[in-house]
Amino acid sequence: MGEIQDQLFILIGALVCLKYLLKCVKFSKYFLLRLWNPLPKSFFRSMGEWAVITGAGDGIGKAYSYELAKHGLNIVMISRTLEKLQAVAKGIEQTTGSQVKIIQADFTKDDIYENIKESLQGLEIGILVNNVGMVHNYLPSHFLSGPDKIQNLIHCNISSVVKMTRLILRDMEIRRKGLILNISSGAGRFPCPLYSLYSSTKAFVCTFSKALQAEYKEKGIIIQVVTPYSISTPMTKHINPNKITKTADEFVKESLDFVAVGDETCGCLAHEILAHLLDFIPSWVIYSDLAQNIFLIHCTNYLKQNSNIQ
Ligand SMILES: NC(=O)c1ccc[n+]([C@@H]2O[C@H](COP(=O)([O-])OP(=O)(O)OC[C@H]3O[C@@H](n4cnc5c(N)ncnc54)[C@H](OP(=O)(O)O)[C@@H]3O)[C@@H](O)[C@H]2O)c1
Repeated sequence: MGEIQDQLFILIGALVCLKYLLKCVKFSKYFLLRLWNPLPKSFFRSMGEWAVITGAGDGIGKAYSYELAKHGLNIVMISRTLEKLQAVAKGIEQTTGSQVKIIQADFTKDDIYENIKESLQGLEIGILVNNVGMVHNYLPSHFLSGPDKIQNLIHCNISSVVKMTRLILRDMEIRRKGLILNISSGAGRFPCPLYSLYSSTKAFVCTFSKALQAEYKEKGIIIQVVTPYSISTPMTKHINPNKITKTADEFVKESLDFVAVGDETCGCLAHEILAHLLDFIPSWVIYSDLAQNIFLIHCTNYLKQNSNIQ
């Protein structure tokens, strides 16, 4: 009996070790891949002539627009404020020599897609970055204390991803080539209390993206969901950058190196490490009242002290 018990414990121990070994192997690919198998310089341009970026006038979308133009693509920037789009477009054209087309659209509305479709007609689109997104409440808060912007949030964070993908994927399928980057969030990787609505919309983006990649990978199309944590942008009230909080430019440069790692990435090593550490915290701890109260107080204080919040 004692011998069987010993063998059972050894077996359980071995399985636990194997589980963590597999996690380590999976994790190591994030830095090994960049050293052993970096993407060729021509990779992004080989997808097609144009890249379309939503929410491109500022923050992460603006950084993707610059970076993909540096890789030789022409850029379609879609965003809300025309003056910002014009200024960024001029900067990109002057510094990279790429062509830039701008489309003014508000993704909280549902009637913008006919106009976008017409404006994209005839372009060979190789890359789509579904970047546009908004946060319901910048400071953590309970659902009922947050603003009533539910429909706007759903249109902007969910419908935009689905509808832009529908507009562009069909041509990619015909050409059997294309890259779609869907910008979700670290808050979409698990149900995140005090950001319930934002977290849920971003979880949709993760699920949609991974299911779609399974459907279309055989057709030569790469679909990746990017789940960053903190980035200094207007959305985060230009929170001070540090080892974890990246600038949009730093983040986008690094995230493009991770395009080949699989259907999901945090986009940079620091956030990948953070995600793995958070995975170790049992969910009963995260969802306890005590943890939520601590998070509410400390996160609010931190954000107030480190960002341009009025
Ligand atoms: N920043 C972070 O820490 C962080 C972390 C994880 C995930 N994300 C995700 O990354 C994406 C980009 O975030 P960000 O921080 O760069 O955002 P941001 O700073 O708020 O905005 C970037 C751009 O999106 C445009 N935009 C916002 N709402 C729009 C709308 N309804 N219609 C059209 N354009 C709109 C803005 O337009 P205007 O030019 O008019 O201002 C701006 O040009 C989002 O999906 C966000 O959820 C961000």
